[in-house]
Amino acid sequence: MKEIKIETVLQVYDTINELPKDIINLMERAVEARNKAYAPYSKFNVGAALLLNNGEIVSGNNQENASYPSGLCAERTAIYYAGANYPEAAVLKMAISATSINKPTLEPIPPCGACRQAIAEYEIKQNQPIEIYFMGETGKVAMSKSLENLLPFVFDKSAL
Ligand code: THU
Repeated sequence: MKEIKIETVLQVYDTINELPKDIINLMERAVEARNKAYAPYSKFNVGAALLLNNGEIVSGNNQENASYPSGLCAERTAIYYAGANYPEAAVLKMAISATSINKPTLEPIPPCGACRQAIAEYEIKQNQPIEIYFMGETGKVAMSKSLENLLPFVFDKSAL
């Protein structure tokens, strides 16, 4: 028997103002998307913006449905849009912002497990890490240098 220890390392910025200019811009695009989310059931609005290696920024937000499981998270809406419209482009950076009507979201809100799996697919496809910045409405911003760092021990095509 041997034990395997896997570490996740995050960079945490105290406020959005500490981020590099291009990331502030990307986060602003995520907030714009967040403000257009369709989340009448959870009232938890999420926006995601992706910077592609062709210079394009694409964004998405959560889209809910009266049949709850039919809805989709912001991160997957955004990355599937990128995959559908820019299949040759690599995703360099992703910014995520979330807010709730129920309580203030002051801590970074990480992407859910299903979104991590979806993002992992593209990180593996492009063989290049995706930097992921995530925050609530205000306050700290967390950064992961890759998706792999957020989803170690991933299920991927090597198993198929
Ligand atoms: N949601 C996201 O958009 N991204 C996440 O990573 C977590 C959850 C959405 C799904 C649903 O519309 C609402 O937030 C509450 O779960």
